[in-house]
Amino acid sequence: MSDVAKQIKERIDIVEYINRTTKLQRTGKNFKGICPFHKEVTGSFFVSPDRQMWHCFGCNRGGDLFTFVTEKEGIDFKSVLELLAPEAGVDLSQFRQGDLANEHKAYDALQAVTHFYQHALFEPKAKSALEYILTQRQIPRELIERFQIGYAPDSWSITGEYLITKGFKVSELIASGIIIEKPDSDQRRNWYDRFRNRIMFPIHDRLGRVVGFTARSLEAKPTGGKYINTPETEYYKKSSLLYGLELAKDSIKRLDYTIVTEGTLDVIAFHKIGIQNVVAPLGTALTMQHIEILKRISSRIVLFFDADQAGYQATLRALLSCLASEMEVKVAIIEGGKDPDELVKSKPNQLKSCLQSAKSFYDFLLIKAKEQLPNTHPNFAVHTSQLILPFIKIVPNTIHQESLIQRLSRDVNITINSLTQQLSKINPNDIVNTVDRISTTSVQSTPIRPPKQTRLQALWRELNAMMLQIPASLENDAQLMEIVSEIPEPDTEHIVTSLNQKLKQFIAETGTINHEELDKQLTPEELELTNLLALHNLGTISADEEAFLSNLSQITRDIIISQTKRRITQVSKIIAAGDSSAELLNEMRGLTHKLREQQLASQQATEG
Ligand code: CTP
Ligand code: MN
Repeated sequence: MSDVAKQIKERIDIVEYINRTTKLQRTGKNFKGICPFHKEVTGSFFVSPDRQMWHCFGCNRGGDLFTFVTEKEGIDFKSVLELLAPEAGVDLSQFRQGDLANEHKAYDALQAVTHFYQHALFEPKAKSALEYILTQRQIPRELIERFQIGYAPDSWSITGEYLITKGFKVSELIASGIIIEKPDSDQRRNWYDRFRNRIMFPIHDRLGRVVGFTARSLEAKPTGGKYINTPETEYYKKSSLLYGLELAKDSIKRLDYTIVTEGTLDVIAFHKIGIQNVVAPLGTALTMQHIEILKRISSRIVLFFDADQAGYQATLRALLSCLASEMEVKVAIIEGGKDPDELVKSKPNQLKSCLQSAKSFYDFLLIKAKEQLPNTHPNFAVHTSQLILPFIKIVPNTIHQESLIQRLSRDVNITINSLTQQLSKINPNDIVNTVDRISTTSVQSTPIRPPKQTRLQALWRELNAMMLQIPASLENDAQLMEIVSEIPEPDTEHIVTSLNQKLKQFIAETGTINHEELDKQLTPEELELTNLLALHNLGTISADEEAFLSNLSQITRDIIISQTKRRITQVSKIIAAGDSSAELLNEMRGLTHKLREQQLASQQATEG
């Protein structure tokens, strides 16, 4: 497998491939373009020919040729291989056989276990489980059938043992997420059942095959999580799976819209009242991949999320993604319950009327703004435009944008001019963060934001980025070698430090950076950082040797100066705290002198 992948990667150039659909421009050693995965005006999307990797600094996606095609086409790894193999002239037939056999085994196991759970639900031992489904959750037998709902027995091994007697191998059951490996067990059985004493909801892929489960505890206050899901496996990739899609497809096509709700049981709730064009992500935010999948069958979406803070936040996030993908999106506001599941139990008709009176995104946001602050409040106009403008910004169609601005201008009584000005100040690459901030508390899956860096930290990163992007023509260049030898001992974050030491040594020994050789010396963490820094935008300086060298030495000097300044701050704090020993005072004098010299040298270098 990896051999095939490697061959394909060697034969297809990532820059050439991406450039077919995303126009790229050279910037130094790398290429730059408008990110195809999120909406932006300025390019934050970089591709490195040296490393055959890409990264978008706006939406934080990145990877190699395969991850690019996976994201772009919304297909899995194996399909990517199928897609690229002919072009690379790689023969897949040999690899296909073994792999397909494995794949079939995993799908068969998932199918078999689905039936096993379904049967288990009607065993005497599952009496209380069935009772829970029928009376507490009020799911009729017909829907138990339709959704293939089952029960995982209250045992550590019954499920696994059953499948093994059916001829499945332990490794296959582990790969499909049904059982969990216990690595350092000296016992006879080195695995246990993942799902125990839970209601099982199978999840299907787009070909209708079961690929995993979401499993609800029977208890009101469960131990080990209310829901347990199949972990990410080769078959279960939650960012592209939607609960209920199989059953919803026809209805979505017929009615030309999809209801997106939050939970598994909410999907089932809609079915109780005869509404079938409904899906739910699986405990994650609605991703661009989800939207792409839905867009193929209908471009209209109604968001129907929980009536709590988390639901509000999930709605805002989903709205951004829908608007960016030019989906026609509406939002249903739940009144009289916490979620569709609850509403159906108490007031089934209300669910339909919530659906019928779903609001446009603009009206929804305006209603929310008024709930948060009465429109007589002096801050109302500012507050409301702060909430709504990021959403207008993300709308791709400028005519639509303009009409929204006009409406906002009327609703909050601010001139179109000043709203347009505010709009232009919004950084398109920061909209998701802005919206998260606006909606106060955090959602289930907020992106990891890098912690704020100190100046010195930023300089070390910049320096590493430059060392990773040395122009080819500077190989063994005397001036380059001299500057590199002057780089001081790093004293920054652990990984940046260790990477810098390795880069310095590598350049000293070989006269440049050979990425393939370098990678062999890196730890996984260093490699991850390298992938990012090698794509760091150096602009044109990395194309011009002279500019490159002078920047490199400037950064090195800046680091030296920053280090001295930092020591001065430390020493002066100690002195201020009362320690004024001769030794310290001496060091202080030495440091200030050193700083002056360093600053002077730096000034001279930039001037001449
Ligand atoms: N979820 C999850 N893990 C959790 C909690 C929730 O994966 N610990 C996912 C499930 O897919 C669930 C969805 O998030 O269906 C919505 O969560 P929540 O609103 O808490 O679930 P409810 O539908 O309210 O659950 P229930 O009605 O069963 O209490
Ligand atoms: Mn619920």
